[in-house]
Amino acid sequence: MKPFASRVIHWQQRHGRHTLPWQIDRDPYRIWLSEIMLQQTQVATVIPYFERFVARFPSLPALAAAHEDEVLALWSGLGYYSRARNLHAASRIVMTGHPESFPDTAEQIAQLPGVGRSTAAAVAALAFGQHCAILDGNVRRVLARHGGVTGWPGDKKIEAELWCLAESLLPTAAQHGTGAIATYTQGMMDLGALICTRSQPTCADCPLHADCVAFNQQRTHELPTPRPKKPLPERQIQLLLLLDRGELLLEKRPPRGIWGGMWSLPELAVDHDPARHCMEHFGLTPRSQQTWPGLSHSFTHFKLLIHPVQLHLAPRHATPTGQIWLSPADALGAALPAPIRTLVAQLTRD
Ligand code: ADE
Repeated sequence: MKPFASRVIHWQQRHGRHTLPWQIDRDPYRIWLSEIMLQQTQVATVIPYFERFVARFPSLPALAAAHEDEVLALWSGLGYYSRARNLHAASRIVMTGHPESFPDTAEQIAQLPGVGRSTAAAVAALAFGQHCAILDGNVRRVLARHGGVTGWPGDKKIEAELWCLAESLLPTAAQHGTGAIATYTQGMMDLGALICTRSQPTCADCPLHADCVAFNQQRTHELPTPRPKKPLPERQIQLLLLLDRGELLLEKRPPRGIWGGMWSLPELAVDHDPARHCMEHFGLTPRSQQTWPGLSHSFTHFKLLIHPVQLHLAPRHATPTGQIWLSPADALGAALPAPIRTLVAQLTRD
């Protein structure tokens, strides 16, 4: 099998993109502008903005001389306007520091506002043929799948692993010639955008599938590993199991909100005293109290930690409205939310 870089280069030459408006020459200004516009935006959206922008500001000095309002106006609709402000600021920095030329190494380009490591490397590779690796969203996906790298790429450790991988796979000048890095860099971007798409990648057309871990293990759908879900916020409540002569007090929930309209147990904030609540709110007198082990229940937006408290009551006189006394066995026939059912079922076993 040919080396990784050779396959990418060969594929780019035959199937990659060659007619994008920033590919017509190697003008670093146009390449830099395109890379900034493409940071959060698809190629098809960028093209008309790019054309208008370079028609009005065809060179770095023209951009540096412009008023920021006009730069922003030409950016209007592309979003992420800090990109335009940084671009404009960077053009003035370059004009002050290097009036003759655009900085030509990735290290220097990365000093400009709004330019991260991958964007700097893309400009350095595409405009100046510098051997440096890129790692934008598309390339991350290609590398995570090909190398079978598990873990969210936003995680610092995984990101470092992917950067190492990206660097280890670069074409060498000795083997591939000096112009190869630009073709390779564009090839990695094009593979990510055209073949190794997030959903339904067309692996049969990919020059890398023979040794792609995700393809061979049928794991393209799970790589790259998605961002881990944020831990849910927690809410704590007490639920009261009020028992009078073997019967349990159930309460109908309000029609809206969690467990809307279902039968539940009386609910109490965790810092309230259950016995006192029974007397003050229900006119019921507890004779004994027992705390049960807690249980948790996850809703889409929060996690509920339930602290059940069982109270045996002195015989009652009345039943408040919206409440009902049932034997635990009968209660299991009512519309109970899952964790309430768990608690009631436990009573039937006691
Ligand atoms: N996305 C980021 N840079 C790109 C480029 N040079 N060509 C196509 N898509 C890109």
